[in-house]
Amino acid sequence: MNTPELGLPMPVPAAGLPARVRIHEVGARDGLQNEKATVPTAVKAEFIRRLAGTGLTTIEATSFVHPKWVPQLADAEDLYPQISDLPVSLPVLVPNERGLDRALALGARRVAVFASATESFAKANLNRTVDESLAMFEPVVSRAKGEGDVHVRGYLSMCFGDPWEGPVPVPQVVRVCRALLDLGCDELSLGDTIGVATPGQVTALLAALTEAGVPVSALGVHFHDTYGQALANTLAALQQGVSTVDASAGGLGGCPFAKSATGNLATEDLVWMLRGLGIDTGVDLGRLVATSVWMAAHLGRPSPSRTVRALSHQES
Ligand code: HMG
Ligand code: MG
Repeated sequence: MNTPELGLPMPVPAAGLPARVRIHEVGARDGLQNEKATVPTAVKAEFIRRLAGTGLTTIEATSFVHPKWVPQLADAEDLYPQISDLPVSLPVLVPNERGLDRALALGARRVAVFASATESFAKANLNRTVDESLAMFEPVVSRAKGEGDVHVRGYLSMCFGDPWEGPVPVPQVVRVCRALLDLGCDELSLGDTIGVATPGQVTALLAALTEAGVPVSALGVHFHDTYGQALANTLAALQQGVSTVDASAGGLGGCPFAKSATGNLATEDLVWMLRGLGIDTGVDLGRLVATSVWMAAHLGRPSPSRTVRALSHQES
């Protein structure tokens, strides 16, 4: 079908979906943490500025983690002051009190802890068991809420499949979700870290969480697109009432030339679908595509997003 001007889908609403979706943009954090080469701080700052200019309202900026564990984000102290004037929410990841101290010292108002549904990934990512990680987060969440009511997101990785343990049992995921909420997290983000989930699994997990008393309004979804299922999984989540969706501009993350897990659901692909469904996101798709094309030039390779490719003249 020919699309008008810049190229926008024909809006045809479908029943049973939220009227508005908040996109939690993770390209500058989840995307850039996976880049082989470290992106210069000034480029990251400009990237985040451009993202803010597209109408995105939540732009995850960086992580205050151990710089040796994630060298790509070791410049968090330099980066954050360069963007903190932007009129958008700029969440940052903090694994422990040391990370929280660093983030609060720079005036961060939204932080995220990140747990795992599986023991293998908890060990690999945090050097802790699942329960030890929760114990590490407890003072982070209570201090964040106590000291000026900082908003806390709780990520939960490996909600569907784990590279060491295979499929992850739903009750295991529900238990850690409940624990994060009981710590005081304001919202949760359900991560398909390696992108193996399919829509039926998403529906089943969300139903189990509802049954366990977790309000759908507190849930976001975070799909990596390894097997091309991220958009289908997102639609399944929207059908269950989820209205917060994580995505990464240009589908950043991973490397298209490597066999490993790829990046997150591309924000452009998400915006295309949501616009087509008549769901408001407040995002200017043309500006977003231009931002991802600009970033792709800095990274030296084209964006893997189908929508970016369709709407730009990038070489594939
Ligand atoms: P550890 O080695 O167990 O740390 O790492 P520790 O608590 O034993 O401390 C050792 C040293 O590190 C100490 O220094 C600490 O001060 C220092 P020393 O006393 O030896 O000089 N240290 C820190 N320094 C700076 N900032 C800090 C910090 N913490 C300790 N925050 C730790 C434990 C949690 C620190 C480490 O495992 C870590 O940094 N992990 C981060 C891993 C990460 O960032 N992964 C990517 C994000 S998660 C993700 O991408 C998934 C997600 O997208 C959702 C999905 O897709 O599923 C969110
Ligand atoms: Mg992720």
